[in-house]
Amino acid sequence: MSTTSLAIECNAVKKSFGNVNALKGATISARPGEVTAIVGDNGAGKTTLIKCIAGVYQPDEGEIRINGESVTFDSPESARVAGIETVYQNLSLVEDLTIWQNLFLNREITKNLGVVKILNRAKMREESEAMLKKLDVYIPSVRSRTRGLSGGQRQAVAICRAVGWGSKVVIMDEPTAALGARETMKVEELIKKMKAQGLAILLISHNFEQVLRLSDHIFVMRQGDVIAGMRTKDTTGDELVALITGSAKRG
Ligand SMILES: Nc1ncnc2c1ncn2[C@@H]1O[C@H](COP(=O)(O)OP(=O)(O)O)[C@@H](O)[C@H]1O
Ligand SMILES: [Mg+2]
Repeated sequence: MSTTSLAIECNAVKKSFGNVNALKGATISARPGEVTAIVGDNGAGKTTLIKCIAGVYQPDEGEIRINGESVTFDSPESARVAGIETVYQNLSLVEDLTIWQNLFLNREITKNLGVVKILNRAKMREESEAMLKKLDVYIPSVRSRTRGLSGGQRQAVAICRAVGWGSKVVIMDEPTAALGARETMKVEELIKKMKAQGLAILLISHNFEQVLRLSDHIFVMRQGDVIAGMRTKDTTGDELVALITGSAKRG
């Protein structure tokens, strides 16, 4: 397999916080058009790993490659510029802003009025509607405030924001942990649509059924190491539990 068919590679990534070795040399990869799941117990290092990819943390050692090219991100903004977007569990929208304002947060479109630059609200609203439509998300008005939305609607807006910017990689850390069953199904539909659009999706989830339903490939983390990686079709929920708890081994 050529390395350039991989959207993301993490090679032997290490990260410590004081004397806590959160990552001891984690190696994973993800392909475009696939959902790659990362599973593991609390404290296994999943969030630390994706934060290294997303530019929130800088690895102490090891390498991150995007489309075969070695990268160093000094901030989440630089990861975003490289096409990496993250959707966190704790719904990263601003309550008091409207939907369109959240979609355009930190990427406002301006227009020139004489010598003054002003926000082009009409254009941002119009593009917001297009961003929601791209994933068939129905929300009555992009002018409504975020605080009135359900958890599922918020997550849908966060996902549309992530895919609406020409991103190549969407990282999702427990995207349905705060949602009910129906809303979870909706978010799963969105994940399938992102996948169909050719994005590489990194999915952290505690829900094994969800991981088995959605993912193409699974990496198992334990105590800062990636201890197994396999195609989803070649494993079972029982095997995942055994790997996570340490009662089984697999290469
Ligand atoms: N910012 C931080 N400061 C100190 N320790 C941290 C920090 N982030 C994570 N850790 C520690 O690193 C380990 C891995 O955590 P984390 O990546 O959040 O695991 P997971 O997401 O798999 O539950 C844990 O022991 C956690 O306490
Ligand atoms: Mg975590």
